[in-house]
Amino acid sequence: MPDRYAVIGNPVVHSKSPLIHAEFARQTAQDIVYVRLPVPKRSFRIELDRFMAHGGRGLNITVPFKEEAAAACTQLSERAKFAQAANTLTLAEGKVIGDNTDGAGMLRDLENNLHIAVHGRRVLLMGAGGAARGVLMPLIARGARLVVIANRDMRKARELEQRFGLFGNVRARAYNDLGGSAFDLIINATSASLQGMVPPLPGTVFAQDCVAYDLVYAAGGTTPFLDRARDCGAAITSDGLGMLVEQAAESFFIWRGVRPDTRPVLDMLRSAGA
Ligand code: ATR
Repeated sequence: MPDRYAVIGNPVVHSKSPLIHAEFARQTAQDIVYVRLPVPKRSFRIELDRFMAHGGRGLNITVPFKEEAAAACTQLSERAKFAQAANTLTLAEGKVIGDNTDGAGMLRDLENNLHIAVHGRRVLLMGAGGAARGVLMPLIARGARLVVIANRDMRKARELEQRFGLFGNVRARAYNDLGGSAFDLIINATSASLQGMVPPLPGTVFAQDCVAYDLVYAAGGTTPFLDRARDCGAAITSDGLGMLVEQAAESFFIWRGVRPDTRPVLDMLRSAGA
């Protein structure tokens, strides 16, 4: 019997994770099965227990269950604790071990695929929800000179400033307070792109030669935020498809102990129009 894995989310029907993990397994000759598990909004725990009871070995967790998944874990990695969210669960002997590979996935995409250094950069991080929390500590740990968190709801941004200011130069700012500042790396960790919207960002935040990165991936590789960034002179723009593949590779490594080659998988998804 191959080892069984799944991605849990709502909705999950469009998830590319089964395709990505099937490619990783083929490449590394691992005998696994990986499926989508659509789960009703209030049934996360029931489905987790059911999957474990049937011998499932690991789960990826996507929106809206990452926080609930972290709370259900018997053990959490440091990065999942910082994010207060888990996207990778390892199931063994009744234990649920949670990790969060989103931040590592984003850094790998930025550094290895796009050749962009985070060290010493002025970073603007838009959003203060689960996605922002997943990448904040990795940005600080990688040596960003400054991380400004912009969010419509300032209370959430200030909470992150409080919690993470201990570890680096982290500031909370309202969007309409950003007028006088320019940034080298601007990351959209809001869900605005999913609604076809752009956060209310002044055009002056885009420094010359800046990089704009959207955690959301979209058909054709662009989002309304990335379109805006190009109009405002951003030198490099990227959606989150690379991050999706890299965070999956990190999960695969946790489960199987082998690191797959992400480049051919990313190329395959791009050429399929993702
Ligand atoms: P996720 O887990 O994807 O981060 P979330 O925790 O619900 O989802 O957080 C969504 C984030 O996107 C929040 O930071 C939200 O801002 P508010 O806290 O101010 O609501 C942000 N967001 C959603 N739609 C947005 C929009 N149209 N413009 C700007 N920010 C938006």
